[in-house]
Amino acid sequence: MGTLFTILSNYFGVQMPRYVQESIDELSASGFSNQLENALWLALRIGGLYLMLSIGKGFFLFLMRQTIIIMSRRIEYDLKNEVFKHYLTLDNAFYKKNRIGDLMNRISEDISQVRMYLGPGVMYSINLIVLSVMSIYQMFKINSTLAFFALLPLPLMSYLIYRVSNRINLSSKHVQEEQSNLTTIAQETFVNIRLIKAYNQTESAQNKLKNAAETYKTKSMRLVLINALFMPTILLLIGASTLLVIYVGAVLTENHQLSLGSIVAFLFYVNNLTWPFVSIGWVTSIIQRAEASQQRINEFLSAEPEIVNPSLAPFEFKGNLRFEKVALTYENTGIKALNELSFEIKSGEQLGVLGKTGSGKSSIIAALARQIDINGGTIYVEDQRLDKINLQDYRSKIALVPQDVFLFSDTIRNNVTFGCPEPIDDTTVIEALKMAHVWHNIQEFPEGLDTVLGEIGVNLSGGQKQRISIARALVRFPTLLILDDCLSAVDTETEEVILNQLKNLPFKPSVITVSHRTSTLRNCDNILVLHEGQCVEYGNPEELMKRKGLYYDFVQQQNKENSGV
Ligand SMILES: Nc1ncnc2c1ncn2[C@@H]1O[C@H](COP(=O)(O)OP(=O)(O)OP(=O)(O)O)[C@@H](O)[C@H]1O
Ligand SMILES: [Mg+2]
Repeated sequence: MGTLFTILSNYFGVQMPRYVQESIDELSASGFSNQLENALWLALRIGGLYLMLSIGKGFFLFLMRQTIIIMSRRIEYDLKNEVFKHYLTLDNAFYKKNRIGDLMNRISEDISQVRMYLGPGVMYSINLIVLSVMSIYQMFKINSTLAFFALLPLPLMSYLIYRVSNRINLSSKHVQEEQSNLTTIAQETFVNIRLIKAYNQTESAQNKLKNAAETYKTKSMRLVLINALFMPTILLLIGASTLLVIYVGAVLTENHQLSLGSIVAFLFYVNNLTWPFVSIGWVTSIIQRAEASQQRINEFLSAEPEIVNPSLAPFEFKGNLRFEKVALTYENTGIKALNELSFEIKSGEQLGVLGKTGSGKSSIIAALARQIDINGGTIYVEDQRLDKINLQDYRSKIALVPQDVFLFSDTIRNNVTFGCPEPIDDTTVIEALKMAHVWHNIQEFPEGLDTVLGEIGVNLSGGQKQRISIARALVRFPTLLILDDCLSAVDTETEEVILNQLKNLPFKPSVITVSHRTSTLRNCDNILVLHEGQCVEYGNPEELMKRKGLYYDFVQQQNKENSGV
């Protein structure tokens, strides 16, 4: 449709100079001594036609933009959705490899480069072809010698513009890089503003930005200079073309090969052709940029998640889990985080995982939530291999409270009900907050559950955040509840309350509690003591105390620390 409208618009456009030609020729035939009423009649007749043609041209020009530019916006919309959807399917390994800035850039900057090609790029290209063919045909129809001379400077102009455009591109790329550098510096400063102030670094932060701004300014000025030279060059070439038309046209008129009106019509055609030819260089650079951008987008679109759901068969998780000689080595660091690790949890049991920092506690959790695939051994869920079951069903029954709490800049209610498939009523939300022993804090906020957290809202204490994140896990009634060191920021008294409430939950989940504090784990059915990825002790807390092994040492040491000895 866009192409059709372009043809129609240009068809009207190229007729217009012919009426200018006709009116001038008619005036000159009468020796420019027309009666007033004749002149009026001429103006009405030819002027009226000219006006109608303009309206036709404008109408289809409008439709041309409405179709082609709107198409490009729709493709942009689809592309953004497609890329974002694909991002969400990719797993942790992908996000470890790529920087967030890069992900953001590809979904915004690169896609808009592609849109520039699909919209203006395509539109101006079609327009150039249609307009050139039609105008050049008209010009040769009037007079081929004059047409030849009039068109002579145009290729030279396109070539020059192409060269200048390349320079402008390169220069604006540099400016853009500096711009993103500037943004990064500003962003990092704002994010770390408390640290900067605490370490008295405001001046150095200021200098850092000032230097970056200086470079940005220099590069921008270079771009302005190139741009400033661009327009005069084009105007010079248009002027040359006009001069040629007038000179050659005059010679031909002298020889009675051409009418006066034709020269004027030619000047119109030359002017009409100028902008499309100018756009050649511009369009070329749009195409080049879009090509590079589309390549970058495809790179991510063709990235495959390493972990995909292996089965769509419904899977019922009852809370039984078994590790058999599980080994896990992180590819990027070569660190062996888990080594021949075996243990079992039966439905409704509580397992405590105790170990020093870096002993592999969080790695166990990543492995059993299948955020990462293990390199050896097998994980069984309800006697089926973890890598064979429906991940969607399995994960929907797990609630993980991660080590680093993340809360959205949203209301407390939405933070708690995050990810729940069905809407949840406030009583359930409050129930969960009570179980996590944080409801009494929230009650003090005037807006209660509607209190907005985060950057633009209320700042919670570390312990309050951890407890909201526990409520988020409880509200889903999980079959397996995983607490990864998530009580580290609450005092032992509060911890006690929460642990007691977890024992008396209205539903009976299997629980894995990770901690480096023995006090957190003393209610567990079994405790697994982890050291460098290996299980060094396993049993219920009383047994382990009697054995006087590593667990016993931990307890002794922590008792000493607590009593201040
Ligand atoms: N994504 C990763 N890539 C590479 N190495 C990792 C990764 N995650 C963890 N490791 C390494 O694996 C080892 C075990 O880490 P893990 O996070 O399981 O320890 P942890 O017991 O949870 O420690 P903490 O108590 O400090 O949370 C560490 O040596 C760590 O450096
Ligand atoms: Mg950890």
